[in-house]
Amino acid sequence: MSTPPSILIFAGSSRVNSFNRKLAKEAARLVRDAGARPTYIELQDLNIPLYNADLEARGTPRDVIRLKELMHGHAGWIIASPEYNGSYTALLKNTIDWASSPAIAGAECSALEADTWKNGTKPFTGKVVGLLSASPGGLGGLRSLDHLAPLLRNLHCWLAPQQFALGKAADAFDAQGHLKDASAEAKVKAVVNEVIFGASRLAQL
Ligand SMILES: Cc1cc2nc3c(=O)[nH]c(=O)nc-3n(C[C@H](O)[C@H](O)[C@H](O)COP(=O)(O)O)c2cc1C
Repeated sequence: MSTPPSILIFAGSSRVNSFNRKLAKEAARLVRDAGARPTYIELQDLNIPLYNADLEARGTPRDVIRLKELMHGHAGWIIASPEYNGSYTALLKNTIDWASSPAIAGAECSALEADTWKNGTKPFTGKVVGLLSASPGGLGGLRSLDHLAPLLRNLHCWLAPQQFALGKAADAFDAQGHLKDASAEAKVKAVVNEVIFGASRLAQL
C-alpha cells in the first residue's frame, strides 16, 4: 500500500478568533480522520516581511526558504481564505508572492538554497490544492476563491474540483471550534477527500 499523502493546511488570516483558522483546523482534523498526514501551520508563525524587491535583492529571508520547503514537501494543500473586499487577504498574497519568487543568496539564504529555489514555481508545481473560505456574510467568502483559484493555476497547481465557502461563519462553530452543521462538515470533507485522492494519484506518476 502506498504512503498516505502529506497535506499542508493554512488559513489566510492571523486574527485570534479567525473563522478561517477554525475551518482550516477542521480540515486538518478531517485529513487525519481520512488516514492522510496533515501539517497545520499558522502563517503568522513565519517571520516573513511585506514583499519588497529591494529587500529581497539583499537575500531571501530564512522563513521564506522554510515556507518553500514546506510547500514543496507536501503533496497537497488546503487553504482557508478570508474575503476582503471581494478578494483574498494581503497576508495570503504576500505569502504566495514570496513563495513564488526565485530565491536570492544572502545572509539568510545560502548559494545552494538559492540554486535549489531558483525556479519560482517549484514549490507550487503539481500540488493538489483544495480551497475553503469562511465569512460572516451569506456568500461565505466565495469571491475570494474566484481570485485565488486562477492565481494558483497560474503557478501550476491542480485545483480540487470541489470547493466550499462557509457562510454565516460567526454562528457555524461550537465552543470547541467544531462545525455545528453536519452538512457543512460533509462539504469540507468532500474537498479533503478530493485533495487526498488527487495528491495520491499525482504522487504515483
Ligand atoms: C477590509 C475588509 C474587507 C472585507 N470585505 C469582505 C467582503 O468583501 N466579503 C465578505 O464576505 N467579508 C468581508 N469582510 C469581513 C470578513 O469576512 C471578516 O472580517 C472575516 O471574519 C475575516 O476572516 P477571519 O475570521 O478568518 O479573520 C471584510 C473585512 C475586512 C477587514
